[in-house]
Amino acid sequence: MNKATRKAVIAGNWKMNNTPAEATALINELKPLVKDADCDVVLCVPYIDLFAAMEAAKGSNIKIGAENCHWAEKGAFTGEVSAKMLAAAGVEYVIIGHSERRQYFGETDVTVHDRVRAALNENLKVILCVGETETENEQHITAEVLRKQTKIALQGVSEEELKNIIIAYEPVWAIGTGKVATADDACKYNGIIRDCIAELYTKEAAEGFTIQYGGSMNEKNAAELLAKVNVDGGLIGGASLVASKFAAIVEAASK
Ligand code: PGA
Repeated sequence: MNKATRKAVIAGNWKMNNTPAEATALINELKPLVKDADCDVVLCVPYIDLFAAMEAAKGSNIKIGAENCHWAEKGAFTGEVSAKMLAAAGVEYVIIGHSERRQYFGETDVTVHDRVRAALNENLKVILCVGETETENEQHITAEVLRKQTKIALQGVSEEELKNIIIAYEPVWAIGTGKVATADDACKYNGIIRDCIAELYTKEAAEGFTIQYGGSMNEKNAAELLAKVNVDGGLIGGASLVASKFAAIVEAASK
């Protein structure tokens, strides 16, 4: 399997944006624009928007995900939502380990691992985020950081379970900054993640594994990034909040 046979996944990450009514309106605007997509189209939305988003996306090719989940099934974790609750609500995808969670909410490689485990137990599809900070980039330890984050997150995950995971390589310095990795660097670091998957599993598993790029991907730079042999889609923040911009990225991935 290679890029030609791996299905690209374009996922929006709305972060803390859109009320339920705004979610419905945005999805209604988006549906006709992405209906012929030749890639998977996912929107990860705030918990409060999930039901409105799933309702609006019903019957379309847009799949809905959450932006995080807790590792326990239930319990005294005020403000958290479990993977079990998401699955029961009909949610299909979940982002885990986003750098904003790591940066602002104390997420560690170990808690990321625990959340991945919980999501897989509930048959959710996981978008696992890995990426280096600006300092780590300047220290030239990006490859080591990506390998460490990937290896810890995937500990105990079987090759069969791996089919429910995709990875988004998101350099932290590129997120929401307008600074995008060069297409060559995105390809190189996605390749390092792919090699890590081959080491942990098999070459075949690595060849079939979807690895996105994320960090200031937009309607202008998407085509160049997505043309790269190791870039199988994108995780899109800011540009996913505007239907025409997100649709343009979906179109670029469908070529
Ligand atoms: P951005 O966010 O596209 O706004 O840089 C990407 C992300 O955080 O997933």
